[in-house]
Order: sequence, then structure tokens, then C-alpha cells
Amino acid sequence: MEKIKILFVCLGNICRSPAAEGVMKRLVEDRNLSHLFEIDSAGTYSGHHGQLPDPRMRRHASRRGYDLTHRARPIGADDFEYFDIIVAMDESNRRTLMRLAASPEQESKIVMMGDYIVKLRAHYDYVPDPYYEGAEGFELALDLLEDACGNLFDEILNNKL
Ligand code: 4NP
Repeated sequence: MEKIKILFVCLGNICRSPAAEGVMKRLVEDRNLSHLFEIDSAGTYSGHHGQLPDPRMRRHASRRGYDLTHRARPIGADDFEYFDIIVAMDESNRRTLMRLAASPEQESKIVMMGDYIVKLRAHYDYVPDPYYEGAEGFELALDLLEDACGNLFDEILNNKL
């Protein structure tokens, strides 16, 4: 079977999207389905290119058992061709991605992470940027990402496998 290729996208690719990548990879590994998935992340802003995730995100994620080792990179034109699903963390990311998409088919790959938030839906329909927040901002981002990744994963399994 062809791999399902998922790209998580935020602004800097050092907080939300590398954490989403880590959460999704764990879900896939826990079900022994790594061979069926390719999971990566990228940013719409290139200023942190090459960096590990923000130390605060690494610390909070590691407390939940996620070891985040992704190196930040900006999204490129090839990503819109290569990946099947491109997941935006907030509306600003989505707008940038829609601008960068080169065809209606590429546009149709873009989805909102917020559409998969269920448990915390009453409070959030996107993943807020924790970069200028304190510890609670990072914990909230991880709560939302665990909620959304679980539902995104279930939906992919139900539709595609
Ligand atoms: P992220 O957070 O988009 O979740 O990676 C940010 C990281 C860096 C910046 C903004 C948001 N920045 O402005 O440098």
C-alpha cells in the first residue's frame, strides 16, 4: 500500500508543528503502522531553519514522553506535490498555504488542525501559538495536539485502510 504522507505546518516550525509530528508519530508507532505513514513538519516562516524545536516545547513534550528532534525547515513548492494531507495549525497558516498552493488539487490537500479538535472544541478551534506564552501555553498546545492528532489518525484509518 502507498504510504499516507502527512505534513504539519505552523509559522516557525519550532513549536506547534514539530510537536504535532511527534504526537502523530507516536500514535502510528503505538499501533505498529509506521510502515504505512510518512510524517513531517514545516514552517511558513524560514527564520528558524535548521533549529531543533524550541527548548520550552522540547521540555514540555518530553514530560509526556515525546522526544522532538525535527530540524526546522520552510515549506517548499515540492511539499504541495509530495504530501497527501497538509495540516495548518491556525487560520494565518492556512491563508499562507492557500496562497502558496499551485493548483486546486494542491489547495484541496490543506486542512485545519482545529477541525479535528473534539475534547477541547468548546474553547478552541485552532492551535494557538505558544511562542510568546508561558508554560501554560505549551501545555495547552500539547493538549490540543493530542486531542486533534488522535481524531485525525482515527479518521485516516477509517477512510483509507
Ligand atoms: P510555531 O511558533 O509557529 O508554533 O513554531 C513560533 C515560533 C517562532 C515564531 C513565531 C511562532 N517567531 O516569530 O519567530
